[in-house]
Amino acid sequence: MSSQPPHPALLIPGPIEFDDAVLQSMSHHSESHVGQPFVNVFGDVLAQLRKLFQTSDPASQPFVLSGSGTLGWDQVAANLGEPGDEALVLHTGYFADSFADCLETYGVKATQLKAPIGDRPQLDEVEKALKEKKYKILTVTHVDTSTGVLSELKALSELVHRVSPDTLVVVDGVCSVGCEEIKFDEWKLDVVLTASQKAIGCPAGLSILMASGRAIEVYKTRKTRPTSYFGSWNNWLPIMQNYEAKKASYFATPSPQLIRALHTSLTQILSRPLEQRFADHRNMSQKIKKAIGDLGLKQLSSKPENQANGMTAIYLPEGITPPDVLPSLTKKGIIFAGGLHKQIAAKYIRFGHMGVSVTDPNRTDIDKAIAALKESLAEVGYKA
Ligand SMILES: Cc1ncc(COP(=O)(O)O)c(C=O)c1O
Repeated sequence: MSSQPPHPALLIPGPIEFDDAVLQSMSHHSESHVGQPFVNVFGDVLAQLRKLFQTSDPASQPFVLSGSGTLGWDQVAANLGEPGDEALVLHTGYFADSFADCLETYGVKATQLKAPIGDRPQLDEVEKALKEKKYKILTVTHVDTSTGVLSELKALSELVHRVSPDTLVVVDGVCSVGCEEIKFDEWKLDVVLTASQKAIGCPAGLSILMASGRAIEVYKTRKTRPTSYFGSWNNWLPIMQNYEAKKASYFATPSPQLIRALHTSLTQILSRPLEQRFADHRNMSQKIKKAIGDLGLKQLSSKPENQANGMTAIYLPEGITPPDVLPSLTKKGIIFAGGLHKQIAAKYIRFGHMGVSVTDPNRTDIDKAIAALKESLAEVGYKA
């Protein structure tokens, strides 16, 4: 049983509920960020990330920076993009708009390939776009947290490597790393960026990124300086390499407590085969999606192959809006999120199912959430 004070179960698509041991790591006594005990932990974290991303290529490079998931976009734009470069941004919701905006902030021209709400750009459309113009970077949101749409990475990466082999394949995995399968080497991905607070199950505050040897080469052969100071790999690459070699080094002060919490969550995640973790998320997602269907509700992503396994975006019945149900869900001990996709925000809610709420068999969060949703809808007159 959790030793945390009673609180409503946080079932939004990130941040998520914490395991007690992860939370307790945050209360580690203060320590020097260049002291050997901390450097050893940071080094272990980087090695653990290689396992989580399924990369054994020594040329792959993990980065862990203080910041949120958004800092991963900045790292990509500032280190891999140069002003005037072209990027193709595959759009499956809100977060592609923001990634495109970030790229543009650094002078990279972002062209968006959009799909109807709940769908994803089709491979033949991506192929056509790649043949029309040379893009240095292609970005894809693995799971768009605003729509619950899952993108298929393996076939997409194969296509990019076939049609436009110099284009870097960049994955926003903020809502997927830790709950959706990602095979960094096998699928020939160039960047997967994520954050600590979603399926990794750690408090918010860390930008986590894996870059391929190819991406590092592109960064090293850029003609201009990276267009960020804090996010520059000129500053961070030697630090990450030193940490992994367990050597103290300094560019900017990391958060020892957050790194310790990440170490605990990664140790827990890697204590079981990753396949099993992904299967747990798939099975729980199926159960939730069936319960939603049994309630007569529809998802934003109607095609099963487009549906994320760590969250579900649910259309409310006609005439019912998020404020009609979210407060009553909270009273029943469940926190869901409202809609985020600008065009339809008032029509849907989001149910996050990642991490301990899914993998800890002693927790009953998900069953309670399904029952609470049913009751809250009945209270506002909905009959399934
Ligand atoms: C898919 C996706 N990308 C990027 C972000 C931005 O991450 P952060 O809010 O940690 O900066 C989020 C946040 O929810 C996200 O869901």
